[in-house]
Amino acid sequence: MDTTAANVETLLPSQGRLYLLKKKYKLFNGGVGSGKTRFGAMWSADQILHNKGNGMIVAPTYRMLEDVSLVAFLELLDRLHRPYEYKQGKNLIYMGNGTVFLRSGDTPDRLRGPNLSWAWLDEAALNREEVWKILIGRLRLNNARGLITTTPAGFNWIYHYWVELQHDSYGMVTGSSRENTYLDADFVSEMEASYSAEYAAQEIDGKFVTFEGLVYSEFSHDSDTGHIRTFDVKEDWQLCRGIDFGYTNPFVCLWGAIDGDGRLYIYDEHYMRKRLIKEHASVIKEVEGDFIWTVSDWDRQERAELEDAGVSTIKAQKDVAIGIQKVKSRLKIQPDGSPRLIIHPRCVNLIKEFGQYRWNPNAKGGKEEPVKEFDHAMDALRYMVMELDGGSFVFI
Ligand SMILES: Nc1ncnc2c1ncn2[C@@H]1O[C@H](COP(=O)(O)OP(=O)(O)O)[C@@H](O)[C@H]1O
Ligand SMILES: [Mg+2]
Repeated sequence: MDTTAANVETLLPSQGRLYLLKKKYKLFNGGVGSGKTRFGAMWSADQILHNKGNGMIVAPTYRMLEDVSLVAFLELLDRLHRPYEYKQGKNLIYMGNGTVFLRSGDTPDRLRGPNLSWAWLDEAALNREEVWKILIGRLRLNNARGLITTTPAGFNWIYHYWVELQHDSYGMVTGSSRENTYLDADFVSEMEASYSAEYAAQEIDGKFVTFEGLVYSEFSHDSDTGHIRTFDVKEDWQLCRGIDFGYTNPFVCLWGAIDGDGRLYIYDEHYMRKRLIKEHASVIKEVEGDFIWTVSDWDRQERAELEDAGVSTIKAQKDVAIGIQKVKSRLKIQPDGSPRLIIHPRCVNLIKEFGQYRWNPNAKGGKEEPVKEFDHAMDALRYMVMELDGGSFVFI
């Protein structure tokens, strides 16, 4: 029997519209949990079943690829009873009709290579435009196709290609998390209860919205002169970690390294919703090192559970206004051309929050305070910077 992937799935309304959309480059702009990854897996399987040629699945980082996009894809191949050979070390899946390359967008040079028949980019808004430019170059074959599934992140390159350019080969569907009947009943209402209107429009309804009044307006994406740079952590640098707890909101762990001049390099992140503390702990422990401290928010229960799982934390200095000033002063470019806070491109969610963390225009009494959104990696980072620069308060 010839099964298409769509036969084994009951599509949600927006997934169905996207499935029927006849465009070379399709975009699913959807809220968190609106079914983007599930659709991407189905679309990719469909490409393999019906076309010869190689394809590529790209996630913002290898960890997101292995934990999320690839899991959904392999699970669907299993349900379709399609044989495949997954070569983990080579990041390849061999199938009868062709090879699927598995890649991460934080190392764009590794996307170059032979032509592709199809490519799926999951959570593409977390990557830079360069990733898309390279992929378009690889999708040159007649009938080659691309799919992007993402939660939007403001008026970025995705908006430029799919909305501003008005090019005939580009088409998009917007999907809301509210449509997904497979989610827990309170998933959306929990998010909505804590979100502002703009944030809900983006994170739940998949709309392009703008965020004004950025807290870290000095944060720069420039590849040579900005804050995002590739680097190797040297043997003699000191290592540390910062943690912000969350369940409906993401749980975040950041890994930092401090060089001999006291510069802080954030070299990795773990950013995930809806997992138990012990699951986070096992991810955290996979990144080995001799950490001088791990600073976290104060939640008693969560800290105790982390401790039981082998991750001891100290309590953060939580003064928001002082913390923001300390982070800002680290962002200043020094006479040698480098800031005192440098972020590795693999920390895609941290980078996204830098672009969306903003001041509250309605703060009472003209006080400067940030909106409590996009602040999860921001908080973890602030705790780390306060631990380094916050003075000599001691909290036990
Ligand atoms: N058509 C579908 N049939 C069954 N389950 C679905 C379908 N679409 C999405 N889901 C489920 O809904 C949840 C959220 O979907 P997912 O694709 O992970 O969302 P997103 O990537 O947009 O955050 C997952 O558990 C997924 O398996
Ligand atoms: Mg997803």
